[in-house]
Amino acid sequence: MTTNSERIIIFDTTLRDGEQCPGATLNIDEKLTIAKQLARLGVDIIEAGFAVASPGDFEAVSKIAQTVGTEDGPVICSLARAIKNDIKAAADALQPALKARIHTFISTSDIHLKYQLKKTREEVLSIAEEMVAYSKSFMSDVEFSPMDAVRSDPEYLYQVLERVIAAGATTVNIPDTVGYTTPSEFGALIKGIKDNVPNIDKAIISVHGHNDLGLAVANFLEAVKNGARQLECTINGIGERAGNASLEELVMALHVRRQYFNPFLGRAVDSEPPLTNIDTKQIYKTSRLVSNLTGMLVQPNKAIVGTNAFAHESGIHQDGVLKNKLTYEIMDAQSIGLTENQIVLGKHSGRNAFRTRLKELGFELSDLELNKAFIRFKEVADKKKEISDWDLEALVNDEIQQAPDLFKLELVQVSCGSNANPTATVTLRNPQGEELIDAAIGTGPVDAVYKAINRVVNVPNNLIEFSVQSVTAGIDAIGEVTIRLKYEDKIYSGHSANTDIIVASAQAYVNALNRLYGALLNKNRQQITA
Ligand code: KIV
Ligand code: ZN
Repeated sequence: MTTNSERIIIFDTTLRDGEQCPGATLNIDEKLTIAKQLARLGVDIIEAGFAVASPGDFEAVSKIAQTVGTEDGPVICSLARAIKNDIKAAADALQPALKARIHTFISTSDIHLKYQLKKTREEVLSIAEEMVAYSKSFMSDVEFSPMDAVRSDPEYLYQVLERVIAAGATTVNIPDTVGYTTPSEFGALIKGIKDNVPNIDKAIISVHGHNDLGLAVANFLEAVKNGARQLECTINGIGERAGNASLEELVMALHVRRQYFNPFLGRAVDSEPPLTNIDTKQIYKTSRLVSNLTGMLVQPNKAIVGTNAFAHESGIHQDGVLKNKLTYEIMDAQSIGLTENQIVLGKHSGRNAFRTRLKELGFELSDLELNKAFIRFKEVADKKKEISDWDLEALVNDEIQQAPDLFKLELVQVSCGSNANPTATVTLRNPQGEELIDAAIGTGPVDAVYKAINRVVNVPNNLIEFSVQSVTAGIDAIGEVTIRLKYEDKIYSGHSANTDIIVASAQAYVNALNRLYGALLNKNRQQITA
């Protein structure tokens, strides 16, 4: 990849490190949908997965490489431990991409060397060097990460970086694996690397960090001031434990405070070109897509993409904003693609208007997907007079959610009210196509529905999260339901949108159960073939 020291490279790891958070597991089609949207968002590099981890991961990296790794698309990257087998798998999976990168890593902190790797510093140094050279035999774009760099001895870190750059690493990534550092410390570490690694001008300095102390974004911005030019981040900040540095926060900080950051990149204070390649208008949509498909809800007060991020509640603030937005707003909601809640379509809108508006909103659907989404649109338009952009987005995201279609929800009926026992009847079709009907009484209508579904599906599970959010204001709004189930130590999510929240709740539950059931089937298959 070409180096432009006046611009910040955005390396998105939503599909690799982001997907590592409990319950965020995505299937291949969902990963592909997100990768396409990341390309529209304008990220420079997509870390598409960890090819050697499983056949599913390999296939996902390969499909993304093939579909999104085009001439004008982003670089597609796969993670690989500093092990030949991993690196070979990464190279094989990345084969179809026109621009590809292997990202190989090994720990360099003494604590990891002693307890995890059981290797000496010298051994790790030569493995790192050798494996970068091996990666280089497959492609020119090679990134190396000294894992737990922040807790490594800086002198040893400089030595490792010098050797891997000499072996051909074109990007050296400095991870704060455990989310331990603080902004000034991290800035000083990056400066130390610039000052003490003799061949550092031959590589791009990247940063990667976790948010255990809530400092990841602040740490990265300090790193930028000290010479880092690639930021590894995820949409909505999802990832291991407290997550990774959030893409939208980093990008908007660099966007809104461009004049502050310009000089650190050798630019005039009022230099106009954006500091990243990101199309900020795609941020909100990407955030919603990732949240819907992973089942990881965005907290309402989350910077940039939370539902309250642009809402003014206090009277004084409202008064000021009405007089002049700049009184209390540092950025325009439209700059992240939050359009006014436009009423665009209604009951009489035809397929063409529907297709055209979806295209304008950036959805590229196959004919089959479009047909399915249009049927859903007509159903909703019958119940809800005016369909806004946000409604359309919720419907389409719902349609493209690809939970395996094992159990199909055919019918759900509830009876409830004061002085009544909430009772639900459900009809489902099992994977063999047989129709199964059952009923149950619950503490409320949703509880009754879930009990009835459980009687049919008969897969043990523990419901750990249930949330309903309305897409727009108004009594006829579409409700979006997100749920998370636990089975053994794994979490499975489900999402659905409908004007009837009981139907959305039932469908979200069936989607999550299908993921769980699919995982159990896979496990059984693997045990039989082992
Ligand atoms: O957090 C970490 O150290 C990582 C590396 C693999 C870069 O994710
Ligand atoms: Zn990480």
